[in-house]
Amino acid sequence: MRKTIIVSNRLPVKITEKGGEFTLQPSEGGLATGLGSIYREGNNIWLGWPGLEISEPKQQEKITKQLRQMNLVPVFLTQDEINNYYEGFSNETLWPVFHYMAVYARYEQSYWDAYYQVNKKFRDSVMQVVEQGDTIWIHDYHLLLLPGMLRAEMPEISIGFFNHIPFPSYELFRLIPWRAELIEGMLGADLLGFHTFDDTRHFLNAASRILPVNTSSNVVSYNDRAVVVETFPMGIDFDKYSSLAKDPAVKLHLQNLRENFQQEKIVLSIDRLDYSKGILQRLQAFEMLLQMYPEYVDKVVLYMIVVPSRDTVPQYKELRDEIDKQVGNINARFRTLGWHPVQYFYRSFPVQVLSALYNFADICLVTPMRDGMNLVTKEYVASRNNNDGVLILSEMAGASKELSDAIIVNPNNIGAITQAIVDALNMPLPEQQRRMKQMRQIVSKFNIHHWVKLFMTRLQEVNGMQQDML
Ligand code: UDP
Ligand code: G6P
Repeated sequence: MRKTIIVSNRLPVKITEKGGEFTLQPSEGGLATGLGSIYREGNNIWLGWPGLEISEPKQQEKITKQLRQMNLVPVFLTQDEINNYYEGFSNETLWPVFHYMAVYARYEQSYWDAYYQVNKKFRDSVMQVVEQGDTIWIHDYHLLLLPGMLRAEMPEISIGFFNHIPFPSYELFRLIPWRAELIEGMLGADLLGFHTFDDTRHFLNAASRILPVNTSSNVVSYNDRAVVVETFPMGIDFDKYSSLAKDPAVKLHLQNLRENFQQEKIVLSIDRLDYSKGILQRLQAFEMLLQMYPEYVDKVVLYMIVVPSRDTVPQYKELRDEIDKQVGNINARFRTLGWHPVQYFYRSFPVQVLSALYNFADICLVTPMRDGMNLVTKEYVASRNNNDGVLILSEMAGASKELSDAIIVNPNNIGAITQAIVDALNMPLPEQQRRMKQMRQIVSKFNIHHWVKLFMTRLQEVNGMQQDML
C-alpha cells in the first residue's frame, strides 16, 4: 500500500529525560499541533528529530522501537548538529531573516556545513523507508535542501514541500550567502506551498532573480521540470477545539478559572518564547492601558502563557529576561491587595487547560511582529461555541488575511494595541457575535483536513503532469 512520508525537523512528540528515564510528551508549535491529528491515517509515517541528544546506540534502538509503534521514525542528532544545524543555521540564520529581523542573523560557514550535512542525514533516513509510489511531504525551513537531495536520488517520486514560516521579500532573502543553494534545494519538490499569497510571490520573485530560471504565473521551469508554487493557508482541527468544551477535565479547569476571576475581564496571550511574537510590545500596550485608563485597575487581567522555546539561542535567553523584568515592573507598579494585572506562566500546558482558557477569555490578544500563520488565533475562534469574545490580531500574522473580522492592529503601534484592548473591552455582544460567527465559519470550513486534502490532491496532479513530461 502506498504511503505518505511526512518529514520535519521535529516529531510531534518530544523525548524528555528525568533521572535516566525517558518520557514522551507532545511537541509545541504550529507544525506539530496542526499535523499531529492527521498523520496516523493509513500506513503513513512521520520522520523527524525527537528533540533530545541520545547518543547511546542501545537507547536509540529502544526509542526507535517505541516510536515505531506510533508510526514515527526518529532521526537522531548529535550535540554538534543540534548546536550548528538546529540552533545555528535554522534558528540563528534562517529564522531571523525569514521573520524580517535580519540584524539578529549570523552567517557562519560552520552553521551552513552542518545544515547541509543534516539535510543529507534526513535524505538517508528517508531513503531507508521510501518505496516506489510513495509520496514525500517535507515541512519547514530546517529542510530546504532536502527536496533537491531526494530528487537527485529519485527523479520520479512525488515530493511536496510546505513552508510554515513567512518567506521574506527578495531584499531580505538575498542577504543569505547560500541563497542560490537554498532555492535550488526547494525546487527539487513538485509542489511548493506557502501560507499566504505574499509568501508565494516573494518566493517566485527570489527564484527568478537568484537563479537562471523561467517563471510564468506560479510555475517555475527548472532542470526540465515544472515546479508549481501555490498558497495553502493552514487550518486547525476545528471539531476537536469546538468539542473540547464538553471534556470533563476542561469543565473542571473552567470552573477553577471562574472561581479565581469572578470580577475581572481576561485578556489571553499564548505564544512560544520568540522575538517574532511581539510579547514585549504587548506588555507595553497593557501597561499603557492601566496608565491611561485607571478605571481598568482591578478589572482586567492579562493572562500570559509563554512556552519555553530555543532558550539556548542568545536572543531567546535575553527576551526571557526582558519579559521577566517587564512583568515584574507592571505587577509591582499596579497590583492591589487582591489583584495582579499580569498572570504570567513560563511553561507549557496540556490542551485541556488551553481549551479552558480559550473558552474563558473575553479577549485573545495576538500581536506578532511576523508570523507564518498563527494557529493560536484559530484555536481561540474554534473554541468560542457561544460566538462571543473578541480577537485582536496583528496584520503581520498570516491568519489576518483570512480573519478580517478580528480587530486588526499594527504590532509596532503600541497606542493602537491599547486602543484595540479598550474597544474590545467595550464591544457590544451583538457585534462580538457578528464578527465571531464570520470567523468561525472560515476556521470551520478551511480546517486541517481541508488543507491536507487540497495540498495532497494538488501534489498528485502536479506529479502526474511531471511524469507526462518525462
Ligand atoms: N501550544 C501548546 N502548548 C502550550 C501552548 C501552546 O502546545 O502550552 C500550541 C498551541 O496550541 C498552538 C501552537 O502551540 O497549536 C503554537 O502554534 P502557532 O502557529 O500559534 O505558533 P508557532 O509556535 O508555530 O510559531
Ligand atoms: C514553528 C516552526 C516549527 C517548529 C515550531 C517550534 O512553528 O514553524 O517548525 O517546530 O515553531 O519550534 P522548535 O524550534 O521548538 O521546533
